[in-house]
Amino acid sequence: VLVNGNVATLDESVSAPYGAVRDGVVAVADGRIAWIGPSDRAPRELVEGAAETVDLEGGWVTPGLVDAHTHLLFGGTRAAEFEQRLGGATYEELARAGGGILSTVRATRNASRHELERSGAARLACLVDHGVTTVEIKSGYGLDVEHELRMLEVARALEARAGITVSTTLLGAHALPLKYADDRGGYLDLVCDEMIPEAALRGLADAVDAFCEGIGFTPDECARVLHAGRDHGLAGRLHADQLSDLGGAALAARLGARSADHLEHTSDQGVRAMAEAGTAAVLLPGAFYFLRERRRPPVDALRAAGVPLVVATDLNPGSSPVASPLMALNLACVLFGLTPEEALIGMTRAAAPVLGFEDRGIVREGARADLACWRVDSPAELAYWIGANPCTAVISGGRRLR
Ligand code: NIG
Ligand code: FE
Repeated sequence: VLVNGNVATLDESVSAPYGAVRDGVVAVADGRIAWIGPSDRAPRELVEGAAETVDLEGGWVTPGLVDAHTHLLFGGTRAAEFEQRLGGATYEELARAGGGILSTVRATRNASRHELERSGAARLACLVDHGVTTVEIKSGYGLDVEHELRMLEVARALEARAGITVSTTLLGAHALPLKYADDRGGYLDLVCDEMIPEAALRGLADAVDAFCEGIGFTPDECARVLHAGRDHGLAGRLHADQLSDLGGAALAARLGARSADHLEHTSDQGVRAMAEAGTAAVLLPGAFYFLRERRRPPVDALRAAGVPLVVATDLNPGSSPVASPLMALNLACVLFGLTPEEALIGMTRAAAPVLGFEDRGIVREGARADLACWRVDSPAELAYWIGANPCTAVISGGRRLR
């Protein structure tokens, strides 16, 4: 039972900002939320008979954070490219010169499974320290059957190791590997006819994703990948309109993808298509910030159209070395104009369905007991502090992790 604090339920049926229940109590049993409400109405036996009590000390509890877009498994770093970019080179120039994603592919293939798991676990622990209880991890730095599947296997292993939920996404169509420089079709055959069926058969992937971009794959190529995923029962995601407008948002909508991610260059038409199809917008302000992009995603239009706004870290070595979900909330507010409440909903209630979860992201009876506790006076502080970590406890499926 969690006592002596306030609950940001984010439940729309609680008519207060953040679905706030001040001086609230949350009781957990069998990994689920058994009771939530004001302390003066809490059943006495629940509070007094609790096996374990968390004292919130006047702070707040929120749903555990859901980071719905990360590439947190990789070998090496791209700190040298960071220096080159600060010297004037662009992300696209580095990619076209054989650096960028392909340089991380080399480092990832060269890393041992043990090293991949160790460095991934360290980054995952950092997310958990900041309140994350569900995370999506993409492959995409293997780019052949063996190494893509190895990434997904390591992601699955990390779930058991970290004690939180890991959702995996096959991103074989992240970049064209050098071996296929003159044979795009051959590589797409490999992704669609080997990687996807094998990953699905072995239960290694929950979704497929593709990078729809000039330095990535064309809309037709991405459509092929998402169709192949769908044929094998895998949900779709799409890296869309990050550096240019190839109509990625509308494509994601047309293909029934759960989300279109990035969206800096998305047109009004793309926004309309997403609204009609119910496609979520995953905003990645860490990548916008780190690549010093100028053009912001059409947040006002997305909001007006009723498109769910999701916020994620995009934790990756090239465009968003952001291992703090709270930093992503701050960037979403300062750079993209979300309110702190929208940003927090974007990393909880709105994020869970992007990974296919209907049982979390809100503090309500029956939901999975994924909770984060914070030493703050108001939930807006989660998007306010930069570089501080007010997280005091993390509970996943009823089990206390820290
Ligand atoms: O989400 N845009 C493509 N994928 C990643 C970047 C990956 C990388 O640069 O290594 C992203 O920004
Ligand atoms: Fe990404």
